Amino acid sequence: MDNPNILDTRTKYYLTTPIYYANSRPHVGSAYTTIVCDVIARHRRMTGFDVAYLTGTDEHGVNIERAAEKAGISPAELVDRNQKIFVELWKLLGISYTHFIRTTSMQHARSVQTLVRRTLIRSPHAIYKAKYEGRYCIYDNLYISDTPEPADCPNCGRAGELISEENYFFRLSEYADRLLALYRDCPEFVQPGFRLNEVKSFVESGLKDISISRKSIKWGIPWPDDPEHVFYVWYDALTSYMTGIGFGEGEAGSEEFRRYWPANLHMIGKEIIRFHAVYWPAFLMAAELPLPHHVFAHGWLLFEQEKMSKSKGNVAYPEPIVKVLGNDALRYYLLREVVFGQDGNFSRDALITRYIADLANGLGNLASRILTMIEKYCDSKVPDPPLRPSGDQTILLKCAAVRGEARTLIDGHNFSGALEKIWSLISTIDKFVTDNKPWDLAADSGQKSRLNGILYDSCEGLRIVTLLLYPFLPNATEKIWVALGQTGKLERQLIDETPWGSLMPGTQIGKLEPVYPRVDKKETSERIEAMENEIRNPGAAAPATTSSTSAGGATAAGAPTGAAAGAGAAAAPVPGAKITIDDFAKVELRVGVVKSAEKVQGADKLLKVMVDIGDEVRQVLAGIALAYAPEELVGRKVVVVTNLAPRKMRGQESNGMLLAASDGADGKPVLVTFAEDIPAGAKVK
Ligand code: MSP
Repeated sequence: MDNPNILDTRTKYYLTTPIYYANSRPHVGSAYTTIVCDVIARHRRMTGFDVAYLTGTDEHGVNIERAAEKAGISPAELVDRNQKIFVELWKLLGISYTHFIRTTSMQHARSVQTLVRRTLIRSPHAIYKAKYEGRYCIYDNLYISDTPEPADCPNCGRAGELISEENYFFRLSEYADRLLALYRDCPEFVQPGFRLNEVKSFVESGLKDISISRKSIKWGIPWPDDPEHVFYVWYDALTSYMTGIGFGEGEAGSEEFRRYWPANLHMIGKEIIRFHAVYWPAFLMAAELPLPHHVFAHGWLLFEQEKMSKSKGNVAYPEPIVKVLGNDALRYYLLREVVFGQDGNFSRDALITRYIADLANGLGNLASRILTMIEKYCDSKVPDPPLRPSGDQTILLKCAAVRGEARTLIDGHNFSGALEKIWSLISTIDKFVTDNKPWDLAADSGQKSRLNGILYDSCEGLRIVTLLLYPFLPNATEKIWVALGQTGKLERQLIDETPWGSLMPGTQIGKLEPVYPRVDKKETSERIEAMENEIRNPGAAAPATTSSTSAGGATAAGAPTGAAAGAGAAAAPVPGAKITIDDFAKVELRVGVVKSAEKVQGADKLLKVMVDIGDEVRQVLAGIALAYAPEELVGRKVVVVTNLAPRKMRGQESNGMLLAASDGADGKPVLVTFAEDIPAGAKVK
């Protein structure tokens, strides 16, 4: 509501994305949650809700501390820099969030401290101090075991760090009964339904108390009256959902907090469900605060069957896609192609195919076809509707059905289902136009009223398609809306208040530039790939002109013929020519430790090597299979070129290069290694 004097009678709807770790730049997988929430937010606004939509950045913790150390800057500088990248990306993607929370803000520190103080008053036994000893993965922020024996992270395989210190603990073990009662009485608390069973079994198998503070870390919010401790990860991060809307401001929180809390929906990826569906309600119960209504855990975006994640190096970035095909293309692809709730594969090829088939040839073509006919046959004015009930009802009835169905599907988070329905309406309108041949009717003056009726129905159908698609495709629909001569802003429309027939005869329609320009598939793919390589490796790669399936790749000496000649590979230096120190400094070399190695099917010389380079594990394809057995490499220290543009070989990505020497062109490759001890990640200079 713009006018504060008008009482806002809308029902509130508060939804959140997780707050994103600010230690690296977002990829398509991270953007997924935010795009989905944006669709929900826009849909809810159009169905009459007063929406608050929160996102933000998770800026504390040891991984931030370490990433900053590696970059040679302070944690504050690192998070400032990365936070901006998130904000810029959300702007590029048109994310309509209303609140952005940074966990390093003063406001958040106050909120977390308020929550713990409140808990200590309302549930004095819920928090206690004790010695903690256990293994922890600092990369995944995951407790691996609560005993000091060495243990590897089940997610990334890296060795867990030993933690041994006094901590504050939250007595989670005492909340099992109340949590199980919650799942029983409000089964919709966890969605989709099958995830509820996972959560229940986890709680039934016995809950352990969890540590919620650290002494060994500096980069965090100090514990009230005990500043040697800082809050640790989840207590800090989860509380951001309340901070963003004003928890901690005054006794009962701000007016906004009182309006919007509890959240209607926390949208998250499946790997963080335990924290949201077990820890979070327990923290809130202990503080006697209302619980969120729903936690929805979606699946992962996979890249070649593995979770897209920076630590695996198998990521696609949103910016190139948006710059080449537009924002709608990425949104449409993710929501149409992936069945929401399940894992889905990301493929650049499928993205472009969808763009061409459904957006350029589908919606874009239909809109320009209808508008051009109105311009041509009706002097650019919306014609009179047909006389009914005797007239054709095809479009009217289809619109009525799809409106209802799409709404139910979106409310139920079945986005691909909703888009399928809306596309069935697009096809119906398309066929209706083709079958009725307005161009023939226009040639016969006796058919004028029939022609008008056909064009009115097509145009009104298009208007309804535009309304239904706006949450998914805010860019093109806005343009079509304006071309249809509609005055009010599309985002302000209430679906229920624009029934069939709202399109006024006589409305002046405008020109529509192609909303989805036609593209060449191969060229588009190459442009996106080149831009992605530039993000991975700024300034390093010449624009790639080969496709992603090219054999180009970077490996040690002894790689299969042609492997070093990938897109962007520099010309071979003239023998004996000198380079400057600056030339050499462009090559980033680091110590790596081989975590695993295996043969690559169908390639005699290639090994797929997973190598820990300190802050991530990289997949490198190395042409050393004839010289080394995979098992003898595990644990070995190697030198990795870490800033080489990734290349694909045999359908697999190689993200770096192992240094090796060889005597002569056909000599056996011998890996470069170290005689003395040196940790993974150390720079080789
Ligand atoms: N900081 C925590 C969340 C704290 S919430 C109180 C975190 N951050 S994250 O940056 O790792 O992830 C943010 C969101 O991105 C999560 O919902 C996560 O599931 C999602 N995704 C990251 N990679 C993804 C895919 N490959 N596919 C789908 N979603 C993914 O977790």
